[in-house]
Amino acid sequence: MAKPKSRYVCQACGSVSSRWQGQCGDCSEWNTLVQEGAAVSSIFAAKHNLQGGGRSIALVGLDSPAALPERLPSGIAEFDRAIGGGIVRGSAMLVGGDPGIGKSTLLLQVGAHLASAGHPVVYVSGEESAEQVRLRAVRLGLGQAPVQLAAATSVRDILTTMGEGEPPALLVIDSIQTMHSDLIEGAPGTVSQVRASAQELVRFAKERGSAVVLVGHVTKDGSIAGPRVLEHMVDTVLSFEGERSHQYRILRAMKNRFGGTDEIGVFAMEGAGLSEVPNPSALFLTQRGEAVSGTAVFPALEGSRPVLVEIQALVVRLASGATPRRAAVGWDAGRLAMVLAVLEARCGLSFATAEVYLNVAGGYRLTDPGADLAVAAALVSALSERPVPGDCVVLGEVALSGEVRPVAHAGLRLKEAAKLGFETAWVPAGVKGVEGIALAEFGNLRRLVEQIMGR
Ligand code: TYD
Ligand code: MG
Repeated sequence: MAKPKSRYVCQACGSVSSRWQGQCGDCSEWNTLVQEGAAVSSIFAAKHNLQGGGRSIALVGLDSPAALPERLPSGIAEFDRAIGGGIVRGSAMLVGGDPGIGKSTLLLQVGAHLASAGHPVVYVSGEESAEQVRLRAVRLGLGQAPVQLAAATSVRDILTTMGEGEPPALLVIDSIQTMHSDLIEGAPGTVSQVRASAQELVRFAKERGSAVVLVGHVTKDGSIAGPRVLEHMVDTVLSFEGERSHQYRILRAMKNRFGGTDEIGVFAMEGAGLSEVPNPSALFLTQRGEAVSGTAVFPALEGSRPVLVEIQALVVRLASGATPRRAAVGWDAGRLAMVLAVLEARCGLSFATAEVYLNVAGGYRLTDPGADLAVAAALVSALSERPVPGDCVVLGEVALSGEVRPVAHAGLRLKEAAKLGFETAWVPAGVKGVEGIALAEFGNLRRLVEQIMGR
């Protein structure tokens, strides 16, 4: 057999090339190619015809009776809500988030809850010593929970230990980037190590029925563990979000083979760990006193729960001909560019010589497309220095034509706004009224500009 050729794997996108290059040919990142040993199995497979010699597999029809996945409620309602109603036995979950956001704290709390309910839980840390994890648990008031702790980084050692007794209901691996598998060469944290380690842990989950949770660091481009290599291996991908300077944290399912991805879990980071926030609708509103220009309140919907958020815009005129900056925190920058373009092309406003900043208050990340009109209102208000009324919520999706489109579940959103004391709503045409809130209809973005600028 020929000597396996070495290959070069881009640590950012996972693409493989046969020789080293300074820049990855696929994702154009610089200095991301790292030499890794070729996987023997793929060379073997390429040389052999795979027809014949295997075992027959059982084929079943679509209509055969399927059992619902067996779920273990973690006892933390916001966590269960985000994953669709409890931890599925034998499933693999990836929890990603920025360093220091609270992933270890969350999983220690989930583990402690499950363990206290009588389910065996093993928490393996590759980043902290068992003593450090224990001290944290004591600080969280969970010192009595029967969680088994270990500090380890060798996947073989971990799986050997797991194989010795009854497999745990939950195995937490904190974090997958610190793990290494001796089946493959390379330092921990490289794409092939992360992938190989995860593969073995996921196989353990499927074979032994333990739920395995992999904690993953988020890289600078926002993806978990660099490339998306882990996301397709696991059943559920959760992202733990928030600003470290703010108290609130959101657990969001990005992918879920066992449930929807629309519900979020909301937590507050406090002195004694994460506490649940069952009613988050008013969390992301700042203190509302006198109306100030450049802000608008949008009633977002997260799964079945409305969450009102304040959108803030700042428009700074530039004297020189320098290229103005556009930045969005908590909202999609591409969508900001689109709303700006529509305001310019359809409403005759000019942002060309101005820097534009958009911020969603409280570290909240807004993904709801119904926020376009509220963003436009904040921008027009910032540009004209005329406030949107303080008792007003704004909702509507903006089309490239400047038309304002309806938003799903407007009634639910408006009811919550009324409950929180808002008295008026700027909405697309055709929205049904809700008690306690006066509606103003905007069929077109031009109407919004007239309303704010008083033209
Ligand atoms: P941690 O769970 O270690 O984050 P991650 O695993 O995502 O890196 O959380 C670290 C932060 O959480 C730390 O900066 C302090 C804060 N924290 C609290 O505010 N209260 C607490 O009870 C705990 C345990 C942590
Ligand atoms: Mg941690």
